[in-house]
Amino acid sequence: MDLRKARQERTVQFRKDRFGMFIHWGIYAIPARGEWVRSQERISVEDYQPFFDSFNPYEYDPKAWAKLAKEAGMKYAVLTTKHHDGFCLFDSKLTDYKATNTPAGRDLVREYVDAFRAEGLKIGFYYSLLDWHHPDYPAYADRNHPMRGNEAVREAEKEKDFSRYVEYLHGQVRELLTNYGKIDIIWFDFSYGEMSGEKWEATKLVKMVRELQPGILIDNRLEGSGDAVGSIKTANPNFYAGDFDGPEQIIPPEGVIDELGDPVPWEACLTLNDNWGYTAKDHNYKTPEQVVRAIVECVSKNGNILLNVGPDARGNIPEESVQILKAVGKWMKKNGKSIYGCSRCELDKPEWGRYTQNGKFLYAHIYDRGIGPTAFKGLAGKIKKARLLMDDSEIKVEKPWNAGQYPEYAFINFGSTTLPDPIDTVVELELE
Ligand code: GLC
Repeated sequence: MDLRKARQERTVQFRKDRFGMFIHWGIYAIPARGEWVRSQERISVEDYQPFFDSFNPYEYDPKAWAKLAKEAGMKYAVLTTKHHDGFCLFDSKLTDYKATNTPAGRDLVREYVDAFRAEGLKIGFYYSLLDWHHPDYPAYADRNHPMRGNEAVREAEKEKDFSRYVEYLHGQVRELLTNYGKIDIIWFDFSYGEMSGEKWEATKLVKMVRELQPGILIDNRLEGSGDAVGSIKTANPNFYAGDFDGPEQIIPPEGVIDELGDPVPWEACLTLNDNWGYTAKDHNYKTPEQVVRAIVECVSKNGNILLNVGPDARGNIPEESVQILKAVGKWMKKNGKSIYGCSRCELDKPEWGRYTQNGKFLYAHIYDRGIGPTAFKGLAGKIKKARLLMDDSEIKVEKPWNAGQYPEYAFINFGSTTLPDPIDTVVELELE
């Protein structure tokens, strides 16, 4: 079957869900300087060990995380089961470097799966292709490894056998996709230089993944990253090209289309502050307004949004994140119809905001009240009725006395000088 068509079919529900929670969590929450701390500060495995020995998230309550995700209006979640530092939140038989051997003493992935599933959310696993703990992963000449260029590790490189690492990687993915029931998304991260595609034995890996979890979605980073997309945008994508593109910390200006001009499913992953992993000093949070408008922007360009939280070492999602997500949830509760199941609309981006569309329903996301009536280009005589989405109240579509010169426009008039919802006022336009 045509891979482009197959990914379109597999992602039907995913493209309706639109909004998910990314969770970056691991022992790096203790140094609290982000999940790259080992690499950035060139910390050896030994010097990183105290964080393993003292990892004790005694307030970890995945039910509370799941409730928050649900309250925010999210439909799925993706948790880092293993990040680049190699630490596993799950009880893998293939390593001792796992949560069950820390003071946490539990399979943290199992509890996440149970809690999120109970809230009706779909389950995603992030799995790092890089592994700075595995003895067979290249260190000295690698561009990201904490021990890169370190003469002390140079000799040991000769003994390494990368195929043993690949076997470990495949074995852990098998565990993750066998032991936790139905998994909806697997999010591999990431490829770089020659560490890409068949270096991970990607064809074999994807065959196994699809065998174990027939309905699963796979991201595009078996040959891509935040800055390299891989073959998913080509006319003939590789077998392991993935089901969706994952732009990182950016919303693609015009959405994502492939070489043939067809839409490629995509999901922008974005942080709420400036870091993925818990960073104690980073309070540079986005506002609920920015987040809502980012969600709208993604949907208006046919995309999803995966919004990150970085729980701390005790297991708590930072309070700032909680408050933002609750505010976003309040808006989503009133206006979710303009997000779920919606996508791009053919009309040009209007002056006052953005459009999303679901069949005959056009959603006008109005950010800028302006002065006088609000104008809808190309919609004269095409609007059957208009409602303010937040309370379903009628909005009159009228031709103002002074608008005779603009026959192709439809108009509404808010009357008041301000918009009913300063974050994003949504007007539902039912088309004829
Ligand atoms: C990057 C980073 C990583 C983060 C991810 C999220 O590739 O290496 O730390 O998990 O992007 O998209």
